[in-house]
Amino acid sequence: MERERMKLANATRDAAAPGMMMMKRGIGRSGRCGRPGAGARRGNDAVARAGKRPAPGDRLYNFSAGPATLPLDVLEEVQGDLVNYKGSGMSVLEMSHRGKDYMEIAAKAESDLRELVGIPDNYKVLFLQGGASSMMASNCHNLAMATDSADYVLTGAWSVKAQKEGAKLLKNANVCATSKEQNFTTIPDVKDWNLTEGSKFVHICSNETIGGVEFKEVPDVGDRVLVADMSSNYLSKPIEVEKYGVIYGGVQKNIGPAGMGICIVRDDLIGNARADTPSMFDYKIMADNDSMYNTPPCFTWYISGLVFAKLLKDGGLAAVEQRNIEKANVLYNAIENSDGYYVSPVDKRYRSMMNVPFTLAGGADLEKEFLAEAKAEGFEALKGHRSVGGARASIYNAMPKEGVEALASFMKDFKARNA
Ligand SMILES: Cc1ncc(COP(=O)(O)O)c(C=O)c1O
Repeated sequence: MERERMKLANATRDAAAPGMMMMKRGIGRSGRCGRPGAGARRGNDAVARAGKRPAPGDRLYNFSAGPATLPLDVLEEVQGDLVNYKGSGMSVLEMSHRGKDYMEIAAKAESDLRELVGIPDNYKVLFLQGGASSMMASNCHNLAMATDSADYVLTGAWSVKAQKEGAKLLKNANVCATSKEQNFTTIPDVKDWNLTEGSKFVHICSNETIGGVEFKEVPDVGDRVLVADMSSNYLSKPIEVEKYGVIYGGVQKNIGPAGMGICIVRDDLIGNARADTPSMFDYKIMADNDSMYNTPPCFTWYISGLVFAKLLKDGGLAAVEQRNIEKANVLYNAIENSDGYYVSPVDKRYRSMMNVPFTLAGGADLEKEFLAEAKAEGFEALKGHRSVGGARASIYNAMPKEGVEALASFMKDFKARNA
């Protein structure tokens, strides 16, 4: 049996090797592509050979808002282990979530996440299907009765969505503050939030993915339960967990592939769900079953675990934040130093480190040209969200600094050619 395993492991390694070589070669080639505005696509020759699509090893700088770019070393590790996970004789895609190998993967992911974030013992970590959108509903089911109130701070499309969900499930989903009049380009001062007497929680979206507006400090809501949607800035910087009742978000932006949300919830907020709460939404049932009440999103959980381990190895969240500040500065400086050619609509105090929307003062036609040229140069998914237009660069943890620098160079070059 052991010999069989070894044979399989060797065959897997041999099969994986050519792809790995190609990936390494593709990356190597990109080092030569340094010309500003023309250096984004990694391995242009390979792209030309293959027609429109890049060859497997020639990765683009992917600025998608989510699902988003993942760390290359994690993808390579997954590739290396894909067909035969560490000699188990099967891939993680195929193994039982109750088996020893997978139970180890799941437990390590949680303990690494706890260490990475410094999650106190009185908080549970839940790995849940249904993403952030489901948790907009399940937060209401677990924290409030249908006759209760909750307060919502509206700073963009996602907090608006959360409030709409709350309005279906609560007597009063109070809009306690909104920046709608400022077109969601800023964050209302916490001193002006009009909180409801006895409300069960205060909901914020810590980073609005579409509008690019980010809370820079945890708002002080006193003894009230603060609930934060961190989908698009999860693990982008240290998190003061104890200031929150619930932290939740989908993983498909800053952590792993789509298919899972992570909820960090304080113990005293568990076990009070409404009687009619579906089991899959009940945080106590999920906590009591180690997030395996049903078959979990195994592969997403596994890859998320690899990302937690990588972030720990790379110096933890303080180091992650430092890199993200540097990356964001490169892009915001490119906008600020363009003499108004590129425009950031967001209040400087709240500019997101993760999602950077910008427009071109030259108007819609020029924007179209900019986006088309950018795409042709290998800067992928820069188009702004359909609801706001313009451009948006999502520069999550896994976007390398060189990707942001290459984009900034392209922007400068485009301006020089078109101003
Ligand atoms: C801030 C924010 N909240 C919630 C969501 C919805 O996440 P999900 O697709 O996991 O439900 C998104 C998704 O794109 C988001 O950016």
